[in-house]
Amino acid sequence: MLVVCELALGLSLFALSADAAVAIPFQGKRDVDTRYPYTGPAVPIGDWVDQTVKGNGKGFPRLVEPPAVKPANSTVTNNVNVISLSYIPNGVNVHYQTPFGLDANPTVHWGLSPSNLCNSSTGQTVSYDRTPTCSAVVVTQCSQYFHNVQLDNLAADTTYYYQIPASNGTTASQTLSFKTARAAGDQKAFTVAVLNDMGYTNAHGTYQQLNQAVSEGVAFAWHGGDISYADDWYSGILPCESDWPVCYNGTSTNLPGGPPIPAEYDAPLPAGELPNQGGPQGGDMSVLYESNWDLWQQWMNNLTLKIPYMVLPGNHEASCGEFDGPNNILTAYLNDDKTNSSAPKSELTYYSCPPSQRNFTAYQNRFRMPGTETGGVGNFWYSFDYGLAHFVSIDGETDFPYSPEWPFVRDATSNETLPTEAQTFITDSGPFGDIDAENWKSNEAYQQWQWLKQDLASVDRTKTPWIIAMSHRPMYSSQVSSYQTDVRDAFEPLLLQYGVDAYLAGHIHWYERLFPLGRNGTIASSNIVNNNTYYTGDGKSITHVINGMAGNIESHSTLGDDPVLNITAVLNQRNYGFSKFTFHNATTATWQYVKGDGTGYGDQLTLLKKNATLSR
Ligand SMILES: *[C@@H]1O[C@H](CO)[C@@H](O)[C@H](O)[C@H]1NC(C)=O
Ligand SMILES: *[C@@H]1O[C@H](CO)[C@@H](O)[C@H](O)[C@H]1NC(C)=O
Ligand SMILES: *[C@@H]1O[C@H](CO)[C@@H](O)[C@H](O)[C@H]1NC(C)=O
Ligand SMILES: *[C@@H]1O[C@H](CO)[C@@H](O)[C@H](O)[C@H]1NC(C)=O
Ligand SMILES: *[C@@H]1O[C@H](CO)[C@@H](O)[C@H](O)[C@H]1NC(C)=O
Ligand SMILES: *[C@@H]1O[C@H](CO)[C@@H](O)[C@H](O)[C@H]1NC(C)=O
Ligand SMILES: *[C@@H]1O[C@H](CO)[C@@H](O)[C@H](O)[C@H]1NC(C)=O
Ligand SMILES: *[C@@H]1O[C@H](CO)[C@@H](O)[C@H](O)[C@H]1NC(C)=O
Ligand SMILES: *[C@@H]1O[C@H](CO)[C@@H](O)[C@H](O)[C@H]1NC(C)=O
Ligand SMILES: *[C@@H]1O[C@H](CO)[C@@H](O)[C@H](O)[C@H]1NC(C)=O
Ligand SMILES: *[C@@H]1O[C@H](CO)[C@@H](O)[C@H](O)[C@H]1NC(C)=O
Ligand SMILES: *[C@@H]1O[C@H](CO)[C@@H](O)[C@H](O)[C@H]1NC(C)=O
Repeated sequence: MLVVCELALGLSLFALSADAAVAIPFQGKRDVDTRYPYTGPAVPIGDWVDQTVKGNGKGFPRLVEPPAVKPANSTVTNNVNVISLSYIPNGVNVHYQTPFGLDANPTVHWGLSPSNLCNSSTGQTVSYDRTPTCSAVVVTQCSQYFHNVQLDNLAADTTYYYQIPASNGTTASQTLSFKTARAAGDQKAFTVAVLNDMGYTNAHGTYQQLNQAVSEGVAFAWHGGDISYADDWYSGILPCESDWPVCYNGTSTNLPGGPPIPAEYDAPLPAGELPNQGGPQGGDMSVLYESNWDLWQQWMNNLTLKIPYMVLPGNHEASCGEFDGPNNILTAYLNDDKTNSSAPKSELTYYSCPPSQRNFTAYQNRFRMPGTETGGVGNFWYSFDYGLAHFVSIDGETDFPYSPEWPFVRDATSNETLPTEAQTFITDSGPFGDIDAENWKSNEAYQQWQWLKQDLASVDRTKTPWIIAMSHRPMYSSQVSSYQTDVRDAFEPLLLQYGVDAYLAGHIHWYERLFPLGRNGTIASSNIVNNNTYYTGDGKSITHVINGMAGNIESHSTLGDDPVLNITAVLNQRNYGFSKFTFHNATTATWQYVKGDGTGYGDQLTLLKKNATLSR
């Protein structure tokens, strides 16, 4: 039956709007510093043999992934390649990506039944000057215009149907659907997929299990940073090094944990390529930074079209690179446009990457998290409720004292307002919020800290007895590192003060569950019920999990000869996967580490609250 929309007139108004949509830069204070020129290749390509953007079949293969919308015909001039959903308060943000601009402001038609998409919402487009631009890349494999349409004032826990109409050469999407978040206080059980450090290589088992979880009704996915590993585009041009887990040379590949080595690693090294720190594709998926983003996002369409996909920043989102290999081959390429050459280590600066590949630029455009709507900042820090739980995304990369990515104020000497080129580093980023009086050593000076305190203080535990926080960086691990002290000093007292139940992280590429820990890593023995059951949420301790095992080109982390500390309850350095977090009711939640190879669970943990009082 054909349903005639009452708003038909309004819809045609949108369709007829003659105003070409103008893509606007990021709405916040996004700022890429260009005081010193970029002097590298027009398009850095992580392949010495095949220095073309599209590939000619002689170097590393260029992978392809299907776009979100299959074009209606073969002479395609524009296309919707990625669609992803995220929560905003009382609604959903529909994000979609095209290589070229649209005729009008982005639009979504929607309604409560697939045959009745009578409501229409319009949004805004953002863009950045990506390297290379989409005019150089295949139309169905490239994103440069990022459209965000907010559907708000929706009913909670309700399925809505929507369609993205055709515009400037794109094909209209099929009728798709999503389910809104449950209202805070809704007491029904639900499950969340939690994953960290994914990328592409080694993540195929995780991907399969994630898709399975979606078909079983997982409510949403929460990805704690290190998303596409786009910055590993250059792993195929870095010579092997003994401290790097992967050495691909086509005949005798090393991967942590030893054999079996996936068959793809037996692909012969293309003639002229160096044995390298990458995989058979050279980079994670592609040898171009931006194409890695495009292809990873397209790969993930099968999830992001169906469930909200919430993200937070990790170090791999910061810029086009974060370290160099022997002889600083990358530095020579980026700074001097010299292939297979060398350069002094000190020359790897903030200005080494093309301007569009610095300061979380791709990350800021390719996602739309509810920072603005929840008092936070952009895709960096924000919170949201779902049923019995309050979820808090923390930025563990920038915007706290001694953050792993440095703000310029920390590079500069006290007599400078900005650092010189040589004083910067390739991953310098942020701050994305304010630092009062530039007092970068003080927790309280940071907008993020002020927000976190206020956000935790305002949680109504009678509605959301569970509070779960995540950032990319762990506070503790048997793999001890100095950033852990900095993350603790910034956030641990607040999380304890407000009785946060669990702190999730990634960054280290393994699964590690810690005993319940109080301030400075004291084991709260009274909160250990047994090996697989902890009491939580009483402010005396927090349950910490490092969930960094989704799989990525860097493969598993290994402890080597270092000891397993007594804070570690479970350590798995071998299986890829993700975790399912189920909130059964106000006093019981269960955490299950799903192994990517389909052989079941690598760990199971029950969290119990001694008491919780729900409002009716
Ligand atoms: C990064 O962007 C933010 C605005 O979003 C700006 O305040 C900051 O100075 C930039 N940092 C660097 C290192 O470019
Ligand atoms: C429409 O798409 C074409 C490419 O097919 C592009 O050149 C043009 O800029 C787009 N129009 C707008 C308004 O962005
Ligand atoms: C959706 O459309 C209906 C009528 O077609 C209207 O009553 C309702 O307010 C609209 N909802 C929103 C959130 O705009
Ligand atoms: C293919 O799509 C283009 C752009 O939308 C359109 O101009 C053209 O007429 C279409 N061709 C066919 C055969 O439908
Ligand atoms: C997409 O996800 C569905 C479950 O939601 C799954 O059945 C299907 O196999 C997935 N497709 C691919 C290509 O993985
Ligand atoms: C790959 O490594 C093995 C073991 O180190 C070595 O014997 C072999 O020659 C290497 N192959 C190439 C192409 O470098
Ligand atoms: C700033 O101080 C440094 C030492 O901290 C000194 O080397 C440099 O010359 C000073 N620069 C200016 C412009 O005064
Ligand atoms: C935790 O360690 C910090 C120094 O890192 C110290 O100042 C503080 O007193 C310690 N707190 C507790 C409760 O042990
Ligand atoms: C608890 O775990 C420890 C170490 O992992 C193990 O030795 C012990 O047998 C376990 N206890 C029970 C009751 O499973
Ligand atoms: C139990 O709940 C009450 C009321 O919400 C609260 O005051 C008390 O601190 C809670 N006790 C524990 C151990 O969490
Ligand atoms: C764990 O080890 C630390 C030293 O690393 C020690 O201070 C602490 O007492 C130990 N805790 C337990 C419960 O054994
Ligand atoms: C909460 O859920 C758990 C797991 O399903 C169950 O064992 C427990 O009885 C439930 N508690 C309440 C108060 O319903």
